[in-house]
Amino acid sequence: MFTRVLERTRLTLKFLTRMKMDLTEMLEIDHMVIDLSYLLFKMTKDPREAAEIVEFMVRQLTRHSEVEEELFYPACQEISSLRDRIREGYEEHRQIKKHLGELRNAGDLPYEKLKAQVESLMAVVRHHVGEEEREVLPVARKSLQKSKMQELISQVVESKQRRLEKLAA
Ligand SMILES: [Fe+2]
Ligand SMILES: [Fe+2]
Repeated sequence: MFTRVLERTRLTLKFLTRMKMDLTEMLEIDHMVIDLSYLLFKMTKDPREAAEIVEFMVRQLTRHSEVEEELFYPACQEISSLRDRIREGYEEHRQIKKHLGELRNAGDLPYEKLKAQVESLMAVVRHHVGEEEREVLPVARKSLQKSKMQELISQVVESKQRRLEKLAA
């Protein structure tokens, strides 16, 4: 049930903001969905549901990091005041990926171990997301031109389509 709530929340937020969403807002929505999934993970008492939520979190975090690394971070590196912060961002993503690797087969892990691993993952994620929202997104919003934002959004949409086509092939 919780995974359905998550999926619907993600789609609703996307729908509500679709008309005038820029890339930084899209990334914030991802952050919100990840936070919400963590909350639901803590609420559920059902180990099978917990594993499903973790699978959802792994997919979301993987896709979100890809968009940032392939499109958003390179654009931010053009802004001199963000260069060091973005370098740290890549490093934090590496740490997050290490945790995600350990969670790939969430359903096979004993529940207690799963809980401990999600806690360590989320400690890194929350720190990283906090810095992005405080230090990166506001500067990017101000400094990246509207045309650049539009270009980035079209690239995100194209890369999503490519991924869907690959899945369908
Ligand atoms: Fe990030
Ligand atoms: Fe992010």
